[in-house]
Amino acid sequence: MTNNRRPLISGNWKMNLNHFEALKMVQELSYEVTRDDVDALDISIHPPFTDLRTVQTTLDSDKIPFFLGAQHCHSEKSGAFTGEVSPAMLAKLGVRYVIAGHSERREIFGESDELINAKVRAILAHDMTPILCVGETLEERQAGEAEAKVQAQLKAGLARVKAEQVAELVIAYEPIWAIGTGQTASAEDAQTMCAVVRSVVADKSGSDAAEAVRVQYGGSVKPTNAAELMSQPDIDGALVGGASLEASSFARIVQYRLHDL
Ligand code: PGA
Repeated sequence: MTNNRRPLISGNWKMNLNHFEALKMVQELSYEVTRDDVDALDISIHPPFTDLRTVQTTLDSDKIPFFLGAQHCHSEKSGAFTGEVSPAMLAKLGVRYVIAGHSERREIFGESDELINAKVRAILAHDMTPILCVGETLEERQAGEAEAKVQAQLKAGLARVKAEQVAELVIAYEPIWAIGTGQTASAEDAQTMCAVVRSVVADKSGSDAAEAVRVQYGGSVKPTNAAELMSQPDIDGALVGGASLEASSFARIVQYRLHDL
């Protein structure tokens, strides 16, 4: 069955590439990505904060049709929060997508579901699109708790978000054991969990929101597995870490449609 959801392939650079390297990367990517690619799908890149202005001016001046993304933000507009960056600042830079609740933020920086929910609402309030990340650990998967974990993260993450806003969201299912490990979830397991995500959205926000929400898979997405993952009915995109740090591999993921299954 086909749907009207436009695929979104996102490159999360994490704490890699300074602003000179970012400039080079964006230019290389713009040579590799074709008009057909951008007609077929949305592409977002999520550099570190120190690169955002450089990437923004490059995208604007060279008319490169990638969406600017951020990896993180604070939930407040401004204030005494040393070291933090506000959603208002990101919106001013033309940022369109902001990752919220990445497992590295949850695990290394102790971000709670409540905090992530506040960020999701703040990102929406500034007319940007959150990419809300959810996913289970290996222990949770082995204990048969993957679905329950993702359900709980979604319920908390989407609290007090209106159905019409949920419809506009991106949710990334990222099993923690697959992130940066080279171990990808099988396309079948990824599909099962992305379908769970959609059914939680249906319960919470209704079938229109569930039909519209875009669900990405993340966790060791590579040029060699992107086509199979993207062929699954409930997978609408990919959140790519390691493989987005090389222009040619990210471009080949963007071009998954051209690969044989
Ligand atoms: P990876 O990271 O592609 O390097 O596994 C994915 C992510 O953390 O979003």
